[in-house]
Amino acid sequence: MNMATIERFEDLEAWQRARELTNVIYDMSDVGAFARDFGLRDQIRRAAVSIMSNIAEGFESRTSRLYIEHLGRAKASCGEVRAQLYLAHDRQYVSGEVFEQTLALAESVSRLTHGLIRYLSNARINEIREDTACYAEEYAVSYASNFASVHYQEVTVTTNESQVPPASESSPSHLQPSHLQPSHLQPSHLQPSNLQPSVPLLDLKAQYTAIRDEIRAAIDRVADAQQFILGPEVEALEHEVAAYSGCAYGIGVSSGTDALLVALMAIDIRPGDEVITTPYTFFATAGSIARLGAVPVFVDIDPLTFNIDPTAIEARITPRTRVIMPVHLYGQMADMDPIMDIAQRHGLVVIEDAAQAIGSEYKGRRAGSIGHMGCFSFFPSKNLGGFGDGGMVTTNDAALAERIRLLRGHGAHPKYYHKLIGGNFRLDALQAAVLRVKLKYLDDWTAGRQRNAATYRRLFAEAGLTIDPPSCLTAGCHARNKGDCTLPPGRVVLPVEAPDRRHIYNQFVIRMAQRDRVMAALKARRIGHEIYYPVPLHLQECFAYLGQRPGDLPASECAAAETLALPIYPELTDAMLAAVVEAVAAGVREA
Ligand SMILES: Cc1ncc(COP(=O)(O)O)c(C=O)c1O
Repeated sequence: MNMATIERFEDLEAWQRARELTNVIYDMSDVGAFARDFGLRDQIRRAAVSIMSNIAEGFESRTSRLYIEHLGRAKASCGEVRAQLYLAHDRQYVSGEVFEQTLALAESVSRLTHGLIRYLSNARINEIREDTACYAEEYAVSYASNFASVHYQEVTVTTNESQVPPASESSPSHLQPSHLQPSHLQPSHLQPSNLQPSVPLLDLKAQYTAIRDEIRAAIDRVADAQQFILGPEVEALEHEVAAYSGCAYGIGVSSGTDALLVALMAIDIRPGDEVITTPYTFFATAGSIARLGAVPVFVDIDPLTFNIDPTAIEARITPRTRVIMPVHLYGQMADMDPIMDIAQRHGLVVIEDAAQAIGSEYKGRRAGSIGHMGCFSFFPSKNLGGFGDGGMVTTNDAALAERIRLLRGHGAHPKYYHKLIGGNFRLDALQAAVLRVKLKYLDDWTAGRQRNAATYRRLFAEAGLTIDPPSCLTAGCHARNKGDCTLPPGRVVLPVEAPDRRHIYNQFVIRMAQRDRVMAALKARRIGHEIYYPVPLHLQECFAYLGQRPGDLPASECAAAETLALPIYPELTDAMLAAVVEAVAAGVREA
């Protein structure tokens, strides 16, 4: 989809620009001498937030008079921001270039706000806004609950014929699409500008806004009970996550990292034991192994799924091997049948690192339920993320569950009588209370992520950027020489969904030859992105003692050199997805 064809309300544009300005000001005033000038820093931040919140409150007002009042305040705050920027520049807190850019941004917000005031003054707005609000209430897609999303949805509903529901008796004629064409909303002096929405990699505020009251009530419940460590909230979450994951037991712990550590401790992993795992994962996977003195033995990945290649495991088994630890990377499960088969034949324990994969499935079975233990993370960016660190171990083995419970509380039972040497790996009640609220929405959010993945696939295909991954990767990666990571230029490889899996898209990771250019294009358009993970673990400095060299695990090394995660969170709008695709297209085509 071409961004130039997307029509938007100018007020949404003004708000987005104001949000962008606020982000810039917060970043800028966090650095060096500016950060220490508390007075000026607070003033400019307050003024920036005031622009945003006044435009936002204007959105909500039903009369043009009130709306104009809010916009008037927003415009005055633009003036304040400009004055404070000059001051910051005089005091040499910001470079000339940053000053110019931020000033230009503040001026553009001011112009948009001014344009809106003029537009509202023509008095037609009352009627139009009321129609639009009713229409949106009737038809807007359910997850659009924060006001920015709602307004985006309104735009989608009113401008995209294919999404307009058919006329019915309950839809009065004045709510029919023809009455709500963009031309009604775009007087000639307010042409849609060519500004693109900025898109963060993850927007947790959008999620929070939708469930704020429920979360606050849950937090209040814990505050009233004053029971902060373990307790009934944690127990309830343990039952709920275990049931959700198709497991008999869940043991809440302090993080995903500690889930891995305590799972290894539960089977008494000792110095010199070997644990087979993948090098293409977050550090915690191998870090937890090494912290117990055990040896991470890295096996290369399947380049299609980024998960451990089961066909390469058996060659690395030795008499010291105790565990296979597959990681379900980015939200798609590893190929578990052959892994379980190998483990059974060699008498090994399987610990699933399911930190990124809650609710994902392999042949109808959920992550964490196939191996002997599953380890989950509730880090805020996960699909089920808390308000801080948290994690859980799942298992179907009662004895293991009991041992993990002991180990997470210094191995004590009863209190002060220590059967084992454990640690403090306990989950907070506050985290559990928050997570219990969020768990109810997890399937909806996952559906949103899957919908976004499907939209990306359509948009990338329409832009002519896609390439059939099996032909370019299976033949390519394994045959590649050290450091030779070339994919066909001008194309991107989209995530491959293996058959029989439910991918929950914790990340949407593409790969391409010209990653630096694509990143530059995304950065220029303020579109969030991240490399997960730039250095495979076998080449990390701290694992130099393992003696591995570049070229040893080529599929992992190629993935590290070529992959890039794009925004995939459920609250993304079609306009945002289109902006991301357009930016990627610009990057790969520059090559
Ligand atoms: C694959 C993987 N394993 C383990 C962890 C560790 O989880 P936590 O950050 O909750 O300690 C993470 C978290 O990012 C992860 O992605």
